[in-house]
Amino acid sequence: MDTRSSGQDTRTPMPSEHGTVMAEFPSATEADVQSAITDALEAKQAWGEMSFHDRAAIFLRAADLVTGKYRYELMAATMLGQGKNVWQAEIDAAAELADFFRYNVSFAQEIYDKQPTVNSPSHHGRTDWRPLEGFVYSVSPFNFTAIGGNLVSAPALMGNVVVWKPAPMNVYPSYLVHQILLEAGLPEGVVQLVNGDAETITRTVLAHREFAALSFIGSSDVFRSICAQIGQGLGEKRYREFPRTVGETSGKNFHLLHPSADVQNAAKHSVRAGFEYAGQKCSALSRMYVPQSQASTFFSEMKKELARIEVGPPEVFSAFTGPVIDQKAFDRVSKAIDTSNEDDRLERIVGGTYDGSKGFFIDPTIYVSKVPDHPLFDTELFGPVLIAYVYPDAEFDRVLELIDKQGGGLALTGNIFSNDQRAIRKAEDRLRYAAGNFYINCKITAAVIGQQTFGGSRGSGTCDKAGSSGLMMRFTAPRTLKEEY
Ligand code: SER
Repeated sequence: MDTRSSGQDTRTPMPSEHGTVMAEFPSATEADVQSAITDALEAKQAWGEMSFHDRAAIFLRAADLVTGKYRYELMAATMLGQGKNVWQAEIDAAAELADFFRYNVSFAQEIYDKQPTVNSPSHHGRTDWRPLEGFVYSVSPFNFTAIGGNLVSAPALMGNVVVWKPAPMNVYPSYLVHQILLEAGLPEGVVQLVNGDAETITRTVLAHREFAALSFIGSSDVFRSICAQIGQGLGEKRYREFPRTVGETSGKNFHLLHPSADVQNAAKHSVRAGFEYAGQKCSALSRMYVPQSQASTFFSEMKKELARIEVGPPEVFSAFTGPVIDQKAFDRVSKAIDTSNEDDRLERIVGGTYDGSKGFFIDPTIYVSKVPDHPLFDTELFGPVLIAYVYPDAEFDRVLELIDKQGGGLALTGNIFSNDQRAIRKAEDRLRYAAGNFYINCKITAAVIGQQTFGGSRGSGTCDKAGSSGLMMRFTAPRTLKEEY
């Protein structure tokens, strides 16, 4: 793959067939990153002065290219590069990517339409929705092609220029997204795609005086470490302005069943939320809380659902659960499975096996914990492994406390299955900070832009919601003008 970077080549393997190289690309050197920043800043003035309608037209054209001319290429890149099945690739690289481009235009429009409404015969007020003065640094994850599209389009639509670093396992789909934007009319310098070593790129970006905002989706640990570096830069008065930090990060997400729940519905949704895309959506299910009276039916329904599920590569269209992304993920999850299989506090009710000989395949696995406080309730694995706790029906209030306490300080998604409205309201109330996205009687994955916003709180991010004008607001520095006459 041809990019502007000049450093050493990196090869990324296909997750479903690690002997095959998916992408080969040169890594950006410090000098490459510097010139990407310089070029972006050079493009800034003309881009910021272009009318919003002209900027918007570029992203609307790009959305049409995504759902039209490039639909199948984007899907194929996402299937092979990220190990997604055809259904997951379509909702990501076609539907959600185009939705971000289109909806972000209308969210930005909402902001530009906002003007002070109370004027008087002797004064007039205005808001000038300025872009940030420097550049935005966007860091996107491996698991969604659409996320890169959002991390770029949200700031760019507000007139900003962007230095974009995608995760290595998503370099090829991101490259396609960048090409699509250029074909749709995006001026060359506005979005600078830089690939390669995260540490080199981030260090170079954060050393720059014009660094104005971080827009990040990835793990909490990496986000925390970048924020700490920004803090150090602030202490040294390195930056022209106070950089904005926007992040959506890890999750240890839960399903809670109330004794009144529709068990079949809960089982079906739990299988999907836990095992679609091998549990690698940040929203994916990883811990469950099940009342005693429902436990045996719930687990046998889950087993029935799982018996119909195939684990396999993306080109096998009937395969529901694909591989995990790379060797590191495979080692992390398989090691946790080995340890859990030997743990007397856990009962394995399905799975517990894996096969890394050809691709990074891990079988859907469920453990039931005999103790309420097993460490797996706090450990993010980012793979197809669930842990459940069966609670006495009378202890619903206590289980709400437990859920709030567990999850390793993360609070991205959670839900309740219940047909009792009082229990639902109580869970909403007691779990107010346990999840930035709380679902009732449906699964916790696959947020649909336009139907809901999405973003986590506590250790899961800054709760700036993707799919909202609130997110776009973070990329503008509104200037207030007041005139008297
Ligand atoms: N928005 C995605 C979902 O809801 C996760 O990033 O599954």
